[in-house]
Amino acid sequence: MTLLAAAAVAAAVLLLSNLSPHGAAAATPPTNSSAAPTCSACHSGIAAEYSHAAMQHALLRPGANPVLEEHPDLSVKLGNYSYSVQTRNGQSTYTVSDGNGSIALPIHWIFGQHSQTWVLEKDGIFYESQVSFFRRDQALATTPGHENVPHSLNEAIGRRTSHAELLKCFNCHSTGATEGVKLTLDKLRPGLSCERCHEGAARHMADAIHDNFTTLPRSLKAMNAEDSANFCGQCHRTWDTAIRNHWHGPEDVRFQPYRLMNSQCFLGSDPRISCIACHDPHKPVETNLESYDAKCLACHGVSRKSDPATVVKTCTVAKSNCASCHMPKIELPEGHAAFTDHQIRIVRGNEPYPN
Ligand code: HEC
Ligand code: HEC
Ligand code: HEC
Ligand code: HEC
Ligand code: HEC
Ligand code: HEC
Ligand code: HEC
Repeated sequence: MTLLAAAAVAAAVLLLSNLSPHGAAAATPPTNSSAAPTCSACHSGIAAEYSHAAMQHALLRPGANPVLEEHPDLSVKLGNYSYSVQTRNGQSTYTVSDGNGSIALPIHWIFGQHSQTWVLEKDGIFYESQVSFFRRDQALATTPGHENVPHSLNEAIGRRTSHAELLKCFNCHSTGATEGVKLTLDKLRPGLSCERCHEGAARHMADAIHDNFTTLPRSLKAMNAEDSANFCGQCHRTWDTAIRNHWHGPEDVRFQPYRLMNSQCFLGSDPRISCIACHDPHKPVETNLESYDAKCLACHGVSRKSDPATVVKTCTVAKSNCASCHMPKIELPEGHAAFTDHQIRIVRGNEPYPN
């Protein structure tokens, strides 16, 4: 094992002397680009899988944005304002005009792998773009929550974001962008890197290279349902956050930990209903719904008197594809996107959205 690991590091170091760890996508070269090993030197399988995961690409930098590369000329007219997003040679420009004048801003901060919103900067002030790109429509439309009509060209850029909000945006979508209450955009690594979830991994890596495996990061495999809802909920929003903010209505379907905890299936101490029972965080979300059946049947398939948690009801309607009926897709009020309701339940035809 140790020998293998050492060989892998050597190979990685060789590779790295030619390649930046972020490939051509790196906008700011890593500080010690010459020979820094990466997690993939020893965890190559997980690293390869994770390179396709949306969380790895939750924030993108210019030149690394397949969505805008594929759609170099986007435009939409909303009321008195026309918007365009043009991409040339890896750089995209966001332009808003009202017929009399226009403002053009370079896009530096690209939020979202599927649908995208841009955080724009003008005269030291940051804006969340008024329009976003929606995957389903393959087009621009109003960013959710921006339905108010702008009164000036400046307002039409988008919603002015406070410093506190910016910290949160970058903290959920990237790594190293904040130090306390300071925004450290110069140190930011786009997307969620391994260390974003595996705290202490940098230390482990430095030690592992010298055959020291006594400083492993905390194992996350043993998280039960409640632990994982809180851990993943740091970004996907916890039950507490939803309650405290009085989030109600179909918008809250985005907040899976909150929805799941409202379900009768949720037993806090049971790992079978944890986020990681159904999702491998290193992989893109599995879209074949039948593949989740075993997760439901882990509880609903058998009744063992010795284990009260398994004494649960079985379905009288169907034997497979459970999630297709009991985890319905809910449209966001603005349209443009749907999310999977994690409040697992019996869905009756004309029932309003439960919350
Ligand atoms: C030199 C090789 C090496 C490097 C580099 C390395 N690891 Fe590891 N890592 C290991 C080995 C070996 C283990 C397993 C030790 C064991 O299970 O006894 C491990 C275990 C882990 C675990 C599992 C902890 C647990 O108990 O479940 C995590 C998480 C982890 N590494 C993350 C990382 C991350 C993130 C990086 C990059 C920042 C990284 N590692 C870099 C060799 C390495
Ligand atoms: C540091 C913040 C953060 C944490 C912690 C986090 N996520 Fe995410 N997750 C995100 C963001 C941001 C996205 C949206 C990425 C995108 O589409 O650009 C996302 C997307 C996802 C997706 C959709 C993937 C896809 O293919 O579309 C899944 C599934 C997911 N997360 C599961 C989890 C699970 C499970 C955990 C806990 C083990 C977790 N996340 C923890 C921020 C986080
Ligand atoms: C508390 C953490 C958190 C904050 C703060 C946050 N996001 Fe997210 N964001 C997420 C998670 C988790 C997802 C994935 C689930 C979803 O789409 O709601 C996501 C999804 C998105 C998506 C859709 C991604 C896709 O691939 O469809 C966009 C765009 C986005 N966020 C932009 C922003 C912007 C811009 C800000 C700041 C103005 C922001 N987010 C603030 C956690 C956060
Ligand atoms: C969104 C959070 C998140 C990110 C980002 C993430 N992991 Fe993990 N990782 C987890 C969770 C949760 C577990 C425990 C559940 C599991 O094994 O799937 C885990 C488990 C592991 C393990 C132990 C698995 C085993 O089978 O022993 C290793 C090693 C690991 N991760 C390495 C990495 C590396 C390397 C990266 C970056 C390429 C990475 N992780 C990125 C959340 C994350
Ligand atoms: C019992 C299984 C199960 C559990 C537990 C579960 N999910 Fe899901 N999740 C699913 C299914 C099924 C989908 C839909 C996949 C698809 O159609 O693409 C999904 C989709 C998602 C998505 C993609 C966006 C969406 O809503 O469609 C995110 C993000 C996500 N889950 C996060 C989480 C988090 C965070 C937790 C823990 C609080 C969690 N999930 C627990 C089954 C589960
Ligand atoms: C940790 C175990 C566990 C898992 C995993 C689980 N459930 Fe449940 N589920 C329960 C318990 C406990 C109840 C409460 C009623 C009972 O005793 O049957 C319940 C109730 C239900 C109900 C009835 C809810 C109502 O509104 O009357 C449905 C439907 C259901 N589950 C479907 C599912 C589906 C579909 C999955 C997989 C996506 C799933 N469950 C996963 C434990 C679980
Ligand atoms: C075609 C849609 C559909 C599929 C697929 C489906 N169910 Fe159901 N299920 C229903 C409906 C509808 C009910 C309510 C039946 C009634 O009480 O009239 C129900 C009821 C239930 C209940 C509550 C039973 C009770 O006695 O109250 C559970 C638990 C359940 N389903 C679990 C599952 C599981 C697990 C799967 C996958 C193996 C599954 N369902 C697949 C539609 C479906």
